[in-house]
Amino acid sequence: MQTVVVAPGEPERFWNRTPFRSYLFNAFSLLLPSGEQFVIRAMEGAAAHLPEGAPLKAEVAQFVREERAHQRAHRLYNAQLARQGYNAVALEARMEGAVQGLEQALDWRERLALAAALEYLTALVSRQALRGGGWLVHDASRQSNLWRWHCEEEVAHHGVALRLLREVGQVSYGRRLGLYVLASLILLRDVACHTWDFFRTDRAQGRLGWLAGVRSVADFGLRHGAGLARMAVGWLGYGLPLGRLAPPAHADLRADVAGIQVRLLQAQDIPRLLVLEHKKWNDGQAASAEAMAQRMAAHPRLCMGAFCPDTGEALASLFLKPISEEQLQRARTWADCAEIGGQGGSQPSRDLFGISLSSISPQGVEAIFAFFFPRALKAGWRQVYLGSPVPGLARWRQMEPHAPVESYVYATHRGAPLDPQLRYYWKKGFKTIVACRADYFPHPESLDYGVVLRGRIPLSSLAPLWRHMPLPWLRGMERCLARML
Ligand SMILES: CC(C)(COP(=O)(O)OP(=O)(O)OC[C@H]1O[C@@H](n2cnc3c(N)ncnc32)[C@H](O)[C@@H]1OP(=O)(O)O)[C@@H](O)C(=O)NCCC(=O)NCCS
Ligand SMILES: [Fe+2]
Ligand SMILES: [Fe+2]
Repeated sequence: MQTVVVAPGEPERFWNRTPFRSYLFNAFSLLLPSGEQFVIRAMEGAAAHLPEGAPLKAEVAQFVREERAHQRAHRLYNAQLARQGYNAVALEARMEGAVQGLEQALDWRERLALAAALEYLTALVSRQALRGGGWLVHDASRQSNLWRWHCEEEVAHHGVALRLLREVGQVSYGRRLGLYVLASLILLRDVACHTWDFFRTDRAQGRLGWLAGVRSVADFGLRHGAGLARMAVGWLGYGLPLGRLAPPAHADLRADVAGIQVRLLQAQDIPRLLVLEHKKWNDGQAASAEAMAQRMAAHPRLCMGAFCPDTGEALASLFLKPISEEQLQRARTWADCAEIGGQGGSQPSRDLFGISLSSISPQGVEAIFAFFFPRALKAGWRQVYLGSPVPGLARWRQMEPHAPVESYVYATHRGAPLDPQLRYYWKKGFKTIVACRADYFPHPESLDYGVVLRGRIPLSSLAPLWRHMPLPWLRGMERCLARML
Protein backbone atom coordinates (compact mmCIF):
# COMPACT_ATOMS: atom_id res chain seq x y z
CA MET A 1 0.00 0.00 0.00
CA GLN A 2 1.51 3.33 -0.94
CA THR A 3 1.63 6.43 1.18
CA VAL A 4 -0.30 9.38 -0.09
CA VAL A 5 1.09 12.84 0.61
CA VAL A 6 -1.79 14.99 1.71
CA ALA A 7 -1.16 18.53 2.84
CA PRO A 8 -2.83 19.41 6.13
CA GLY A 9 -6.22 21.03 5.68
CA GLU A 10 -6.76 19.40 2.29
CA PRO A 11 -8.46 16.14 3.10
CA GLU A 12 -10.28 15.90 -0.20
CA ARG A 13 -7.47 16.26 -2.72
CA PHE A 14 -6.84 12.51 -3.06
CA TRP A 15 -10.40 11.58 -2.27
CA ASN A 16 -10.43 8.36 -4.33
CA ARG A 17 -7.94 6.42 -2.20
CA THR A 18 -4.83 7.08 -4.39
CA PRO A 19 -3.63 10.11 -6.38
CA PHE A 20 -3.93 8.31 -9.72
CA ARG A 21 -7.48 7.10 -9.10
CA SER A 22 -8.48 10.61 -7.98
CA TYR A 23 -6.81 12.15 -11.06
CA LEU A 24 -8.66 9.74 -13.33
CA PHE A 25 -12.09 10.81 -12.17
CA ASN A 26 -11.10 14.48 -11.91
CA ALA A 27 -9.82 14.22 -15.49
CA PHE A 28 -13.19 12.91 -16.65
CA SER A 29 -14.94 15.68 -14.79
CA LEU A 30 -13.02 18.34 -16.72
CA LEU A 31 -14.24 17.04 -20.05
CA LEU A 32 -17.82 16.51 -18.95
CA PRO A 33 -19.46 19.96 -19.14
CA SER A 34 -18.50 20.50 -22.79
CA GLY A 35 -18.67 16.80 -23.71
CA GLU A 36 -22.20 16.58 -22.34
CA GLN A 37 -23.09 19.80 -24.15
CA PHE A 38 -22.03 18.11 -27.39
CA VAL A 39 -24.14 15.05 -26.58
CA ILE A 40 -27.17 17.18 -25.62
CA ARG A 41 -27.05 19.18 -28.85
CA ALA A 42 -26.56 16.05 -30.95
CA MET A 43 -29.47 14.29 -29.26
CA GLU A 44 -31.80 17.28 -29.45
CA GLY A 45 -30.93 17.86 -33.09
CA ALA A 46 -31.57 14.22 -33.98
CA ALA A 47 -34.78 13.98 -31.91
CA ALA A 48 -36.28 16.67 -34.16
CA HIS A 49 -36.32 13.97 -36.88
CA LEU A 50 -38.55 11.68 -34.81
CA PRO A 51 -42.24 11.53 -35.71
CA GLU A 52 -44.56 13.64 -33.53
CA GLY A 53 -45.65 11.80 -30.36
CA ALA A 54 -42.92 9.11 -30.57
CA PRO A 55 -42.26 7.73 -27.04
CA LEU A 56 -38.54 8.11 -27.69
CA LYS A 57 -39.03 11.90 -27.70
CA ALA A 58 -40.00 11.84 -24.02
CA GLU A 59 -37.00 9.61 -23.28
CA VAL A 60 -34.68 12.07 -25.01
CA ALA A 61 -36.20 14.96 -23.02
CA GLN A 62 -35.54 13.08 -19.77
CA PHE A 63 -32.03 12.18 -20.98
CA VAL A 64 -31.29 15.86 -21.69
CA ARG A 65 -32.59 16.88 -18.24
CA GLU A 66 -30.24 14.36 -16.65
CA GLU A 67 -27.24 15.50 -18.69
CA ARG A 68 -27.91 19.14 -17.81
CA ALA A 69 -27.98 18.21 -14.13
CA HIS A 70 -24.63 16.41 -14.60
CA GLN A 71 -23.20 19.49 -16.30
CA ARG A 72 -24.22 21.73 -13.43
CA ALA A 73 -22.79 19.38 -10.84
CA HIS A 74 -19.49 18.97 -12.71
CA ARG A 75 -19.08 22.71 -13.22
CA LEU A 76 -19.13 23.07 -9.43
CA TYR A 77 -16.79 20.10 -9.09
CA ASN A 78 -14.37 21.64 -11.61
CA ALA A 79 -14.51 25.01 -9.87
CA GLN A 80 -13.37 23.17 -6.75
CA LEU A 81 -10.45 21.68 -8.72
CA ALA A 82 -9.49 25.19 -9.83
CA ARG A 83 -9.59 26.33 -6.20
CA GLN A 84 -7.26 23.47 -5.31
CA GLY A 85 -4.73 25.01 -7.70
CA TYR A 86 -5.21 22.75 -10.71
CA ASN A 87 -5.22 24.10 -14.24
CA ALA A 88 -8.96 23.39 -14.52
CA VAL A 89 -10.11 26.62 -16.17
CA ALA A 90 -7.66 26.40 -19.09
CA LEU A 91 -8.25 22.67 -19.60
CA GLU A 92 -12.02 23.15 -19.63
CA ALA A 93 -11.69 25.98 -22.13
CA ARG A 94 -9.55 23.77 -24.38
CA MET A 95 -12.25 21.09 -24.28
CA GLU A 96 -14.89 23.61 -25.25
CA GLY A 97 -12.87 24.70 -28.30
CA ALA A 98 -12.32 21.08 -29.36
CA VAL A 99 -16.04 20.32 -29.08
CA GLN A 100 -16.97 23.31 -31.24
CA GLY A 101 -14.50 22.12 -33.88
CA LEU A 102 -16.09 18.65 -33.89
CA GLU A 103 -19.59 20.09 -34.21
CA GLN A 104 -18.60 22.04 -37.29
CA ALA A 105 -16.81 19.12 -38.93
CA LEU A 106 -19.64 16.57 -38.67
CA ASP A 107 -23.20 16.37 -40.01
CA TRP A 108 -26.12 15.64 -37.67
CA ARG A 109 -26.09 11.87 -38.20
CA GLU A 110 -22.37 11.70 -37.50
CA ARG A 111 -22.76 13.90 -34.45
CA LEU A 112 -25.43 11.53 -33.17
CA ALA A 113 -23.25 8.48 -33.88
CA LEU A 114 -20.35 10.12 -32.02
CA ALA A 115 -22.68 11.01 -29.12
CA ALA A 116 -23.95 7.40 -28.96
CA ALA A 117 -20.35 6.15 -28.96
CA LEU A 118 -19.44 8.57 -26.15
CA GLU A 119 -22.48 7.44 -24.17
CA TYR A 120 -21.54 3.78 -24.66
CA LEU A 121 -17.98 4.46 -23.46
CA THR A 122 -19.19 6.51 -20.50
CA ALA A 123 -21.51 3.68 -19.47
CA LEU A 124 -18.61 1.23 -19.77
CA VAL A 125 -16.47 3.29 -17.40
CA SER A 126 -19.47 3.93 -15.13
CA ARG A 127 -20.14 0.20 -14.69
CA GLN A 128 -16.54 -0.24 -13.68
CA ALA A 129 -16.81 2.63 -11.20
CA LEU A 130 -19.97 1.26 -9.61
CA ARG A 131 -18.65 -2.27 -9.19
CA GLY A 132 -17.86 -3.09 -5.52
CA GLY A 133 -14.08 -2.91 -5.03
CA GLY A 134 -13.84 -1.15 -8.41
CA TRP A 135 -12.28 2.11 -9.49
CA LEU A 136 -14.37 4.39 -7.34
CA VAL A 137 -14.25 4.57 -3.58
CA HIS A 138 -17.76 4.12 -2.17
CA ASP A 139 -17.93 6.39 0.84
CA ALA A 140 -19.88 9.44 1.96
CA SER A 141 -17.52 11.99 0.41
CA ARG A 142 -19.05 14.55 -1.93
CA GLN A 143 -17.03 13.32 -4.89
CA SER A 144 -18.00 9.69 -4.35
CA ASN A 145 -21.66 10.62 -3.98
CA LEU A 146 -21.60 12.73 -7.11
CA TRP A 147 -19.87 10.05 -9.17
CA ARG A 148 -22.15 7.26 -8.00
CA TRP A 149 -25.19 9.31 -8.93
CA HIS A 150 -23.73 10.27 -12.30
CA CYS A 151 -22.50 6.75 -13.10
CA GLU A 152 -25.84 5.17 -12.24
CA GLU A 153 -27.64 7.61 -14.53
CA GLU A 154 -25.12 6.98 -17.32
CA VAL A 155 -25.57 3.22 -17.11
CA ALA A 156 -29.35 3.68 -17.06
CA HIS A 157 -29.67 6.16 -19.92
CA HIS A 158 -26.93 5.35 -22.46
CA GLY A 159 -29.43 3.14 -24.32
CA VAL A 160 -31.49 6.22 -25.25
CA ALA A 161 -28.68 7.45 -27.51
CA LEU A 162 -28.28 4.02 -29.10
CA ARG A 163 -32.01 3.70 -29.68
CA LEU A 164 -32.18 7.16 -31.23
CA LEU A 165 -29.27 6.26 -33.50
CA ARG A 166 -31.13 3.12 -34.56
CA GLU A 167 -34.41 5.00 -35.16
CA VAL A 168 -33.29 8.05 -37.08
CA GLY A 169 -29.56 8.33 -37.45
CA GLN A 170 -28.50 5.27 -39.41
CA VAL A 171 -24.93 5.70 -40.59
CA SER A 172 -23.00 2.87 -42.28
CA TYR A 173 -21.49 0.20 -40.01
CA GLY A 174 -17.98 1.29 -40.97
CA ARG A 175 -18.71 4.93 -40.16
CA ARG A 176 -20.32 4.01 -36.83
CA LEU A 177 -17.20 2.05 -35.82
CA GLY A 178 -14.91 4.77 -37.18
CA LEU A 179 -16.62 7.37 -35.02
CA TYR A 180 -16.47 4.98 -32.05
CA VAL A 181 -12.69 4.65 -32.41
CA LEU A 182 -12.50 8.44 -32.70
CA ALA A 183 -14.57 8.84 -29.50
CA SER A 184 -12.32 6.33 -27.69
CA LEU A 185 -9.15 8.14 -28.80
CA ILE A 186 -10.55 11.53 -27.79
CA LEU A 187 -11.45 10.26 -24.31
CA LEU A 188 -8.15 8.45 -23.86
CA ARG A 189 -6.08 11.43 -24.99
CA ASP A 190 -7.96 13.99 -22.91
CA VAL A 191 -8.04 11.90 -19.76
CA ALA A 192 -4.30 11.20 -20.13
CA CYS A 193 -3.54 14.92 -20.74
CA HIS A 194 -5.58 16.04 -17.75
CA THR A 195 -4.10 13.36 -15.50
CA TRP A 196 -0.60 14.42 -16.49
CA ASP A 197 -1.46 18.06 -15.86
CA PHE A 198 -2.80 17.26 -12.36
CA PHE A 199 0.38 15.35 -11.55
CA ARG A 200 2.57 18.19 -12.79
CA THR A 201 0.71 20.67 -10.59
CA ASP A 202 1.01 18.49 -7.49
CA ARG A 203 4.67 17.79 -8.20
CA ALA A 204 5.45 21.49 -8.77
CA GLN A 205 3.72 22.33 -5.50
CA GLY A 206 5.64 19.60 -3.67
CA ARG A 207 2.62 17.46 -2.86
CA LEU A 208 3.59 14.39 -4.82
CA GLY A 209 6.95 13.08 -5.98
CA TRP A 210 7.81 10.97 -9.02
CA LEU A 211 8.11 7.79 -7.01
CA ALA A 212 4.71 8.14 -5.32
CA GLY A 213 3.15 9.07 -8.68
CA VAL A 214 4.55 6.02 -10.46
CA ARG A 215 3.62 3.77 -7.54
CA SER A 216 0.08 5.06 -7.69
CA VAL A 217 -0.18 4.16 -11.40
CA ALA A 218 1.41 0.74 -10.87
CA ASP A 219 -0.94 0.06 -7.97
CA PHE A 220 -3.90 0.78 -10.24
CA GLY A 221 -2.57 -1.53 -12.98
CA LEU A 222 -1.93 -4.35 -10.50
CA ARG A 223 -5.19 -4.09 -8.59
CA HIS A 224 -7.49 -3.47 -11.49
CA GLY A 225 -6.10 -5.78 -14.15
CA ALA A 226 -9.31 -7.83 -14.21
CA GLY A 227 -11.41 -4.67 -14.48
CA LEU A 228 -9.29 -3.42 -17.37
CA ALA A 229 -9.70 -6.78 -19.13
CA ARG A 230 -13.47 -6.56 -18.64
CA MET A 231 -13.39 -3.06 -20.09
CA ALA A 232 -11.47 -4.30 -23.13
CA VAL A 233 -14.12 -6.97 -23.78
CA GLY A 234 -16.87 -4.39 -23.29
CA TRP A 235 -15.05 -2.04 -25.65
CA LEU A 236 -15.07 -4.67 -28.39
CA GLY A 237 -18.78 -5.18 -27.78
CA TYR A 238 -19.60 -2.03 -29.76
CA GLY A 239 -18.94 -4.10 -32.88
CA LEU A 240 -22.28 -5.88 -32.34
CA PRO A 241 -25.18 -4.90 -34.61
CA LEU A 242 -27.02 -1.84 -33.32
CA GLY A 243 -30.22 -3.83 -32.71
CA ARG A 244 -28.37 -6.05 -30.21
CA LEU A 245 -26.53 -3.16 -28.59
CA ALA A 246 -29.40 -0.88 -27.56
CA PRO A 247 -30.92 -2.09 -24.27
CA PRO A 248 -34.72 -1.97 -24.03
CA ALA A 249 -36.29 1.21 -22.66
CA HIS A 250 -36.72 1.37 -18.91
CA ALA A 251 -37.22 4.25 -16.53
CA ASP A 252 -34.65 3.34 -13.95
CA LEU A 253 -34.78 6.53 -11.97
CA ARG A 254 -38.51 6.75 -11.69
CA ALA A 255 -40.95 4.51 -9.97
CA ASP A 256 -44.68 4.51 -10.29
CA VAL A 257 -46.31 3.35 -7.09
CA ALA A 258 -50.11 3.39 -7.02
CA GLY A 259 -50.11 5.73 -10.03
CA ILE A 260 -47.89 8.27 -8.21
CA GLN A 261 -44.67 9.25 -9.91
CA VAL A 262 -41.60 9.41 -7.70
CA ARG A 263 -38.32 10.82 -8.88
CA LEU A 264 -35.10 12.45 -7.78
CA LEU A 265 -35.66 16.20 -7.58
CA GLN A 266 -34.28 18.70 -10.03
CA ALA A 267 -34.11 22.48 -9.98
CA GLN A 268 -37.14 22.81 -12.26
CA ASP A 269 -39.30 21.07 -9.61
CA ILE A 270 -38.72 23.91 -7.13
CA PRO A 271 -41.81 26.05 -7.95
CA ARG A 272 -44.12 23.07 -7.36
CA LEU A 273 -42.21 22.06 -4.23
CA LEU A 274 -42.65 25.59 -2.86
CA VAL A 275 -46.42 25.26 -3.27
CA LEU A 276 -46.35 22.04 -1.21
CA GLU A 277 -43.95 23.55 1.33
CA HIS A 278 -46.26 26.53 1.98
CA LYS A 279 -49.28 24.25 2.38
CA LYS A 280 -47.60 22.42 5.25
CA TRP A 281 -45.26 24.95 6.89
CA ASN A 282 -45.72 28.60 7.90
CA ASP A 283 -43.52 31.36 6.45
CA GLY A 284 -41.01 31.13 9.28
CA GLN A 285 -40.63 27.38 8.86
CA ALA A 286 -40.87 26.86 5.08
CA ALA A 287 -37.67 26.25 3.13
CA SER A 288 -36.74 28.85 0.50
CA ALA A 289 -36.06 28.08 -3.16
CA GLU A 290 -32.34 28.70 -2.48
CA ALA A 291 -32.27 26.24 0.40
CA MET A 292 -33.93 23.59 -1.78
CA ALA A 293 -31.54 24.22 -4.67
CA GLN A 294 -28.59 23.98 -2.29
CA ARG A 295 -29.79 20.63 -0.89
CA MET A 296 -30.28 19.23 -4.39
CA ALA A 297 -26.87 20.40 -5.59
CA ALA A 298 -25.10 18.96 -2.56
CA HIS A 299 -26.89 15.60 -2.42
CA PRO A 300 -28.76 15.02 -5.67
CA ARG A 301 -29.52 11.37 -4.88
CA LEU A 302 -30.94 12.20 -1.50
CA CYS A 303 -33.69 14.61 -2.56
CA MET A 304 -36.86 13.05 -3.91
CA GLY A 305 -40.45 13.90 -4.58
CA ALA A 306 -43.80 12.29 -5.33
CA PHE A 307 -45.91 13.91 -8.02
CA CYS A 308 -49.41 13.50 -9.34
CA PRO A 309 -49.00 12.06 -12.86
CA ASP A 310 -52.02 14.01 -14.20
CA THR A 311 -51.52 17.50 -12.78
CA GLY A 312 -47.80 17.36 -11.94
CA GLU A 313 -48.66 18.65 -8.43
CA ALA A 314 -46.06 17.85 -5.76
CA LEU A 315 -47.65 15.43 -3.25
CA ALA A 316 -44.69 14.79 -0.97
CA SER A 317 -41.02 15.65 -0.75
CA LEU A 318 -38.12 14.24 1.21
CA PHE A 319 -34.72 15.88 1.59
CA LEU A 320 -31.91 13.94 3.23
CA LYS A 321 -28.19 14.48 3.77
CA PRO A 322 -25.34 12.40 5.17
CA ILE A 323 -24.56 13.14 8.79
CA SER A 324 -21.66 12.05 10.96
CA GLU A 325 -21.93 10.89 14.53
CA GLU A 326 -19.83 13.88 15.50
CA GLN A 327 -22.09 16.42 13.74
CA LEU A 328 -25.14 14.83 15.32
CA GLN A 329 -23.61 15.00 18.81
CA ARG A 330 -22.55 18.60 18.32
CA ALA A 331 -25.84 19.83 16.85
CA ARG A 332 -28.13 21.68 19.25
CA THR A 333 -30.79 22.67 16.72
CA TRP A 334 -32.44 21.46 13.55
CA ALA A 335 -30.49 24.10 11.59
CA ASP A 336 -27.18 22.64 12.88
CA CYS A 337 -28.19 19.16 11.68
CA ALA A 338 -29.58 20.36 8.36
CA GLU A 339 -26.62 22.57 7.49
CA ILE A 340 -25.31 21.62 4.05
CA GLY A 341 -21.58 21.02 3.89
CA GLY A 342 -21.45 20.76 7.67
CA GLN A 343 -19.86 17.33 7.49
CA GLY A 344 -16.56 18.58 6.12
CA GLY A 345 -13.44 17.14 7.65
CA SER A 346 -15.16 14.46 9.67
CA GLN A 347 -15.21 10.74 9.08
CA PRO A 348 -17.42 9.53 6.22
CA SER A 349 -20.62 8.15 7.60
CA ARG A 350 -23.25 5.60 6.72
CA ASP A 351 -26.00 7.62 8.39
CA LEU A 352 -28.48 10.10 6.99
CA PHE A 353 -30.37 13.02 8.44
CA GLY A 354 -33.90 13.74 7.24
CA ILE A 355 -33.80 17.50 6.68
CA SER A 356 -37.45 17.64 5.82
CA LEU A 357 -40.48 15.58 4.95
CA SER A 358 -43.56 17.40 3.68
CA SER A 359 -46.70 15.76 2.44
CA ILE A 360 -50.29 16.30 1.48
CA SER A 361 -50.76 12.64 0.60
CA PRO A 362 -49.98 9.59 2.78
CA GLN A 363 -49.69 7.53 -0.45
CA GLY A 364 -47.11 10.05 -1.69
CA VAL A 365 -44.98 9.41 1.42
CA GLU A 366 -45.37 5.65 1.00
CA ALA A 367 -44.34 5.90 -2.63
CA ILE A 368 -41.25 7.93 -1.70
CA PHE A 369 -40.23 5.42 0.97
CA ALA A 370 -40.73 2.52 -1.45
CA PHE A 371 -38.62 4.37 -4.03
CA PHE A 372 -35.89 5.20 -1.55
CA PHE A 373 -35.26 1.96 0.36
CA PRO A 374 -33.79 -0.17 -2.43
CA ARG A 375 -31.56 2.72 -3.42
CA ALA A 376 -30.51 3.32 0.17
CA LEU A 377 -29.57 -0.35 0.52
CA LYS A 378 -27.57 -0.26 -2.67
CA ALA A 379 -25.75 2.90 -1.58
CA GLY A 380 -24.94 1.32 1.79
CA TRP A 381 -26.81 3.76 4.07
CA ARG A 382 -27.59 2.23 7.45
CA GLN A 383 -29.63 4.58 9.64
CA VAL A 384 -31.77 7.67 9.24
CA TYR A 385 -32.05 10.35 11.90
CA LEU A 386 -34.66 13.08 11.88
CA GLY A 387 -35.88 15.89 14.09
CA SER A 388 -39.59 15.61 14.71
CA PRO A 389 -41.90 18.27 16.13
CA VAL A 390 -44.03 17.20 19.10
CA PRO A 391 -47.25 19.03 18.21
CA GLY A 392 -49.21 17.76 21.21
CA LEU A 393 -46.77 19.28 23.71
CA ALA A 394 -48.30 22.77 24.07
CA ARG A 395 -51.73 21.33 24.90
CA TRP A 396 -50.25 18.78 27.31
CA ARG A 397 -48.25 21.54 29.03
CA GLN A 398 -51.49 23.40 29.87
CA MET A 399 -52.64 20.35 31.82
CA GLU A 400 -49.21 19.54 33.27
CA PRO A 401 -47.47 22.89 33.82
CA HIS A 402 -44.73 21.50 36.11
CA ALA A 403 -43.87 18.07 34.73
CA PRO A 404 -40.65 17.72 32.71
CA VAL A 405 -41.10 17.69 28.92
CA GLU A 406 -39.50 14.26 28.76
CA SER A 407 -42.44 12.70 30.56
CA TYR A 408 -44.61 13.69 27.60
CA VAL A 409 -42.05 12.79 24.92
CA TYR A 410 -41.54 9.28 26.33
CA ALA A 411 -45.20 8.72 27.24
CA THR A 412 -46.88 5.86 25.40
CA HIS A 413 -50.40 4.69 24.85
CA ARG A 414 -50.79 0.97 24.05
CA GLY A 415 -47.08 0.72 23.33
CA ALA A 416 -46.99 3.61 20.83
CA PRO A 417 -45.94 7.24 21.58
CA LEU A 418 -48.67 9.53 22.87
CA ASP A 419 -47.73 12.43 20.63
CA PRO A 420 -49.44 12.12 17.20
CA GLN A 421 -46.37 12.99 15.17
CA LEU A 422 -44.00 10.80 17.19
CA ARG A 423 -46.59 8.04 16.72
CA TYR A 424 -46.63 8.72 12.98
CA TYR A 425 -42.86 8.25 12.76
CA TRP A 426 -42.95 5.31 15.18
CA LYS A 427 -45.29 3.52 12.76
CA LYS A 428 -42.82 4.25 9.99
CA GLY A 429 -39.97 2.56 11.88
CA PHE A 430 -38.45 5.52 13.75
CA LYS A 431 -38.72 3.88 17.15
CA THR A 432 -35.64 5.16 18.96
CA ILE A 433 -35.63 8.52 20.69
CA VAL A 434 -32.08 9.82 20.61
CA ALA A 435 -32.57 13.23 22.20
CA CYS A 436 -35.18 15.76 23.21
CA ARG A 437 -34.00 19.31 22.55
CA ALA A 438 -35.35 22.73 23.56
CA ASP A 439 -35.20 25.59 21.03
CA TYR A 440 -34.77 23.05 18.25
CA PHE A 441 -36.85 24.87 15.62
CA PRO A 442 -39.67 27.42 15.55
CA HIS A 443 -42.82 25.36 16.17
CA PRO A 444 -45.38 26.88 18.59
CA GLU A 445 -47.45 23.66 19.11
CA SER A 446 -44.20 21.90 20.09
CA LEU A 447 -43.08 24.87 22.27
CA ASP A 448 -40.05 24.88 19.92
CA TYR A 449 -38.98 21.47 21.20
CA GLY A 450 -37.69 18.86 18.77
CA VAL A 451 -37.20 15.15 19.24
CA VAL A 452 -34.33 13.49 17.41
CA LEU A 453 -35.46 10.05 16.24
CA ARG A 454 -33.54 7.20 14.67
CA GLY A 455 -34.73 4.51 12.27
CA ARG A 456 -32.67 1.71 10.80
CA ILE A 457 -32.99 1.03 7.09
CA PRO A 458 -34.44 -2.51 7.00
CA LEU A 459 -31.90 -5.22 6.09
CA SER A 460 -29.11 -2.64 5.90
CA SER A 461 -26.79 -4.81 7.99
CA LEU A 462 -26.41 -6.97 4.87
CA ALA A 463 -25.00 -3.95 2.99
CA PRO A 464 -22.15 -5.79 1.17
CA LEU A 465 -24.71 -8.14 -0.35
CA TRP A 466 -26.99 -5.37 -1.62
CA ARG A 467 -24.17 -3.42 -3.17
CA HIS A 468 -23.59 -6.26 -5.62
CA MET A 469 -27.24 -6.86 -6.38
CA PRO A 470 -28.63 -5.15 -9.49
CA LEU A 471 -31.01 -2.29 -8.68
CA PRO A 472 -33.94 -3.85 -10.59
CA TRP A 473 -33.82 -6.89 -8.23
CA LEU A 474 -33.77 -4.64 -5.21
CA ARG A 475 -36.65 -2.68 -6.69
CA GLY A 476 -38.59 -5.92 -6.81
CA MET A 477 -38.29 -5.93 -3.02
CA GLU A 478 -39.68 -2.38 -2.66
CA ARG A 479 -43.10 -3.22 -1.33
CA CYS A 480 -41.72 -5.91 0.89
CA LEU A 481 -39.21 -3.49 2.42
CA ALA A 482 -41.82 -0.79 2.94
CA ARG A 483 -43.94 -3.32 4.84
CA MET A 484 -41.03 -4.31 7.10
CA LEU A 485 -40.87 -0.85 8.63
C1 LIG B 1 -45.95 14.80 8.86
C2 LIG B 1 -46.45 14.66 7.43
C3 LIG B 1 -45.24 14.55 6.49
C4 LIG B 1 -47.31 13.42 7.35
O1 LIG B 1 -47.90 13.37 6.08
P1 LIG B 1 -48.77 12.12 5.53
O2 LIG B 1 -47.95 10.91 5.45
O3 LIG B 1 -49.40 12.63 4.29
O4 LIG B 1 -49.85 11.82 6.65
P2 LIG B 1 -51.02 12.68 7.33
O5 LIG B 1 -50.73 14.14 7.27
O6 LIG B 1 -52.32 12.25 6.74
O7 LIG B 1 -50.88 12.19 8.81
C5 LIG B 1 -50.92 10.82 9.16
C6 LIG B 1 -51.19 10.64 10.64
O8 LIG B 1 -50.10 11.18 11.43
C7 LIG B 1 -50.59 12.14 12.37
N1 LIG B 1 -49.75 13.33 12.33
C8 LIG B 1 -48.63 13.50 11.61
N2 LIG B 1 -48.14 14.71 11.82
C9 LIG B 1 -48.96 15.34 12.68
C10 LIG B 1 -48.99 16.62 13.27
N3 LIG B 1 -48.05 17.53 13.01
N4 LIG B 1 -49.99 16.93 14.11
C11 LIG B 1 -50.94 16.05 14.37
N5 LIG B 1 -50.97 14.82 13.82
C12 LIG B 1 -49.99 14.46 12.99
C13 LIG B 1 -51.97 12.50 11.93
O9 LIG B 1 -52.75 12.60 13.09
C14 LIG B 1 -52.45 11.35 11.10
O10 LIG B 1 -53.11 10.47 11.90
P3 LIG B 1 -54.51 9.84 11.42
O11 LIG B 1 -54.17 8.97 10.25
O12 LIG B 1 -54.98 9.10 12.62
O13 LIG B 1 -55.36 11.02 11.04
C15 LIG B 1 -47.30 15.87 6.98
O14 LIG B 1 -48.40 16.02 7.85
C16 LIG B 1 -46.56 17.18 6.91
O15 LIG B 1 -46.03 17.54 5.87
N6 LIG B 1 -46.55 17.93 8.02
C17 LIG B 1 -45.90 19.22 8.12
C18 LIG B 1 -44.45 19.09 8.07
C19 LIG B 1 -43.83 18.21 9.14
O16 LIG B 1 -44.14 18.29 10.31
N7 LIG B 1 -42.89 17.38 8.71
C20 LIG B 1 -42.13 16.49 9.53
C21 LIG B 1 -41.01 17.12 10.20
S1 LIG B 1 -39.51 17.09 9.28
FE1 LIG C 1 -23.78 12.54 -17.96
FE1 LIG D 1 -25.01 10.38 -20.54
